[in-house]
Amino acid sequence: MEKFGRLDYLVHAMGVTGTGPASHVSIEQWNHVINTNLTSAFLLAQAGYAPLQSTKGRVVFMSSPNGINGGTELSGPAYAAAKAGILNLARYLAKEWAVDRINVNTIIPGTVDTPMLNRLTETQLAEIRNSIPLGRLTTPKEVAAGVAFLCSSHASHITGSSLNISGGRLMI
Ligand SMILES: NC(=O)c1ccc[n+]([C@@H]2O[C@H](COP(=O)([O-])OP(=O)(O)OC[C@H]3O[C@@H](n4cnc5c(N)ncnc54)[C@H](OP(=O)(O)O)[C@@H]3O)[C@@H](O)[C@H]2O)c1
Repeated sequence: MEKFGRLDYLVHAMGVTGTGPASHVSIEQWNHVINTNLTSAFLLAQAGYAPLQSTKGRVVFMSSPNGINGGTELSGPAYAAAKAGILNLARYLAKEWAVDRINVNTIIPGTVDTPMLNRLTETQLAEIRNSIPLGRLTTPKEVAAGVAFLCSSHASHITGSSLNISGGRLMI
């Protein structure tokens, strides 16, 4: 706001994974993953609401296949819960803020080639890659293209939706 004097697009693209099993997750770990992935998305959207009202702006959140299929111990229970929460937070805000003409949507990226994957072993990564119907990881550019689409005039009548950019991973 200081630099441009307006806010057209609010994109929440930060996150951290946790780990399982559920029986080993401390309350501190649980809170860290929920706060970083979900609570921060709410607080950012809340902070952006007034300026977005003025511009009839757009909000885009990042979920994950874990938010649909429950995930595994590789990312843990808090990540699965947070990424499921993101989907419904977007739906809630999409309804409440429709009167302001603020569109709120979510992207569900598959396994994207970013530093988030550094925690995985080569074997784990190969297993995931081999299970993706389109045969490769998603690129950050492909996710960015989805964000650009949801922020564009082409998506003017899309709100409360989720866009799956996963090479088919969401189906498995
Ligand atoms: N990569 C995937 O396979 C994948 C799949 C599905 C969904 N996603 C989601 O896509 C989004 C982007 O993930 P990514 O792959 O880009 O992950 P990444 O490479 O690990 O980057 C995570 C980003 O989040 C920021 N971040 C973490 N904790 C933060 C905090 N407490 N305060 C401020 N910033 C913080 C990091 O900033 P610093 O670098 O400054 O720490 C970094 O920019 C996340 O929501 C993730 O859950 C990723």
